[in-house]
Amino acid sequence: MRMYDIILKKRKGQELSAEEIRFVINGFTKGEIPDYQMSALLMAICFNSMSDLETAEMTYTMADSGDKVDLSEFGSLSVDKHSTGGVGDKTTLIITPIVASCGAKIAKMSGRGLGYTGGTVDKLEAITGYRTSLSEEEFFSQVRTVGASVIGQTGNLAPADKKIYALRDVTATVDSIPLIASSIMSKKLASGAKSIVLDVKAGSGAFMSDIDSAKELASRMVAIGRRCGRNISALITNMDIPLGTSVGNALEVIEAIKVLKCEEKGELRKLCLELSAAMLSMSLGISHDEAYLRAEKALDGGRAYEKLKEWIAAQGGDVRMLDDTSLFPRAAHTLQVISPSSGYICRMNTAEIGRASSILGAGRVKKEDKIDLSAGIVIAAKTGDRVSKGDVIATLYSNTESFLQEASKIYVDALEYSEESVPNQKTIICKVD
Ligand code: URA
Repeated sequence: MRMYDIILKKRKGQELSAEEIRFVINGFTKGEIPDYQMSALLMAICFNSMSDLETAEMTYTMADSGDKVDLSEFGSLSVDKHSTGGVGDKTTLIITPIVASCGAKIAKMSGRGLGYTGGTVDKLEAITGYRTSLSEEEFFSQVRTVGASVIGQTGNLAPADKKIYALRDVTATVDSIPLIASSIMSKKLASGAKSIVLDVKAGSGAFMSDIDSAKELASRMVAIGRRCGRNISALITNMDIPLGTSVGNALEVIEAIKVLKCEEKGELRKLCLELSAAMLSMSLGISHDEAYLRAEKALDGGRAYEKLKEWIAAQGGDVRMLDDTSLFPRAAHTLQVISPSSGYICRMNTAEIGRASSILGAGRVKKEDKIDLSAGIVIAAKTGDRVSKGDVIATLYSNTESFLQEASKIYVDALEYSEESVPNQKTIICKVD
């Protein structure tokens, strides 16, 4: 088999065989196929796409390229959730204790943030003492006793994807739906959960800017999961608006705690209940309505908040911070963003709001960058809200005073106003089963 012939075949728009896909992925991972040939193939895939069969084969081969987490001891109770990434997405912090307090098992590996999207592991590090790295024995033991553990992704999970993703990142070949689907699903399959819920974001702050592409990505991932014997479903959710009211690590943890204490009842809570219901329905084998009711009861009855404390304590975190959120790191400098006009906010460029938060110190441009855990934005007005000129529309937080003005300008420029009233945005768009 020759890489040249495989590139040519894909360039002509033909379907590659399972053997050819395995030859490419394994050969590239071992260093036998050079970057320039792999880049050419990835570009041909961007133009000519891949069939479900090709995508599935690529996914399995990447999932098999490194360590695989064996969660079989938890049977059908093991469940995972994946979000395709967005601005202000703190759902893992809320869903994990809800679902664990209802009897499902979450053994979760999460990533760090890069660019304008945040990462759960960074958020958890805002809790003093929280250990994002546990030994295998500690990880499993905590899932057995507490029902939940969230740690950083190990280096050897789907290493083929890691190597291919690094190449895609510098060859303008990231935004191909089959490549994204196989990349995400290879890591989910290697992570071992029997049931998987996908939160596929659509909008200005998401990988997929329109709903149709998000639906196609979701359907592709659901098809791959099913082929592999997993229970899987997806929600398409709105990323044309930041999720909730906080963006930035410590600020998002504080907001998540408020939801778990039932102090916040908006769209974020609704989305978390819907995702929890999807996870519980599959892992406990119950109807969606029954699962939703159980999740709601766990939240309203305080069991989910108690489970949060148990989980954080088990991982070394300072639980006093949960009861008293004033103990979270506070930024030395703040700036109120003032509305330059009167009217209804009709559009929030969510990626730009993520970028403003990143500039304040909450995000990374390069993997090695250190983040300011206390930096970020608390949003006071969102799409659909009426504001008057001079109103405070957001508060910016940073430990570096000179970042505030630039972030404020980006924030103001990210908003559009209309004279006419516009509806508030819904977070949940549709389900893909
Ligand atoms: N996230 C991933 O893990 N892979 C992609 O290709 C895109 C987003």
